[in-house]
Amino acid sequence: MKAAVYETYGPADVLKIKDVPRPEAGENGVLVQVYASAVTSADWRMRASAFPGGLWLMGRLMTGLIKPRHKILGVAFAGRVVSVGAAVRGFRLGDPVFGFSGSGAHAEYVAVDADGPVARMPEGLGYDEAAAIPFGGLSALVFLRDFGKITVGQKVLVTGASGAVGVFAVQIAKHFGAEVTGVASTRNVEFVRSLGAARVVDYTQDDFTRGGVQYDVVLDTAGVSRFSQAKRVLKPDGVYVPLEFGLQTALHALWRKIAGGKRIAIGVSGDSKADTETLANLAEQGALRSPVGHRYRFADIADAHRQAESRHSRGTVVVTFEPMHAKEAAVPQAV
Ligand SMILES: NC(=O)c1ccc[n+]([C@@H]2O[C@H](COP(=O)([O-])OP(=O)(O)OC[C@H]3O[C@@H](n4cnc5c(N)ncnc54)[C@H](OP(=O)(O)O)[C@@H]3O)[C@@H](O)[C@H]2O)c1
Repeated sequence: MKAAVYETYGPADVLKIKDVPRPEAGENGVLVQVYASAVTSADWRMRASAFPGGLWLMGRLMTGLIKPRHKILGVAFAGRVVSVGAAVRGFRLGDPVFGFSGSGAHAEYVAVDADGPVARMPEGLGYDEAAAIPFGGLSALVFLRDFGKITVGQKVLVTGASGAVGVFAVQIAKHFGAEVTGVASTRNVEFVRSLGAARVVDYTQDDFTRGGVQYDVVLDTAGVSRFSQAKRVLKPDGVYVPLEFGLQTALHALWRKIAGGKRIAIGVSGDSKADTETLANLAEQGALRSPVGHRYRFADIADAHRQAESRHSRGTVVVTFEPMHAKEAAVPQAV
């Protein structure tokens, strides 16, 4: 099969499309023919070894100290099941599925654990839209619900509201019954409003940390603030949730927990099957849109990485594979 392989860390040019052995489903797994795959901040960070704030060594220990351990990136996918492990009950050949693979989805096929974060694709969504959900959707859900402890009626502010995580954060916060303020640049103000934000702060005109409104949760997906600034607009028991943080913020979060009052909540995104199914249900009910702002052919995956790395993408960057455009895609060949 064809896969986008990276043998060394570096710029987008290190990605080469190569022929590699096709993975196998395994006893408890399914093999998915990938029709679309998201190119995310996780992908470009792993490729470039760009881990924030003193976390370089920890990042390298996870991804491979000298060379990448998993040579195929791609954390999220949508496609069709083409092989089912003997012990699997929940999936059948031909099922349209989407999910979070952690790696390996920038390839024609990806093998995933059937009990992991993979679910039937929501009705009515394209493969590109479905592939866009797991990274941003799971991050937004976990950071708001588990770290932000969001509840009905709260005021929530989301920076980077037009980005891959932000578009889901705005919608999920609204779904939880919060009043949402998004922070975006001028060209994205109406777009963020269309996702359900009650207010949008245009960061080219105003500094959200100098506004008069007090928030229960400040979710900084864009990595554009510090606690010292965000606390100015936090309620006395409010929580600051930065998605991008270094060692210093991690230590500060510990101290704030001991000190009491305004808190910092840090963590890493989750990848559970239950949450993947929750997102699928929300999308099927029309409570969650999955904006794909940038589509590339798989052959142009290096350009897709450059777009994702620009930090100014709208919604998710997605690469698509030929079968997606072909009518025959409806009847995949079992392998
Ligand atoms: N800890 C974890 O487990 C975890 C999980 C997921 C993501 N992350 C991190 O979260 C970050 C965001 O990821 P992403 O994929 O959503 O990024 P993205 O798709 O690149 O989106 C970035 C967004 O930030 C906006 N932006 C740029 N400058 C801004 C500013 N000064 N104020 C407000 N918004 C601004 C951009 O909008 P404009 O184009 O309008 O400027 C863009 O929409 C990444 O650093 C990623 O590594 C961490």
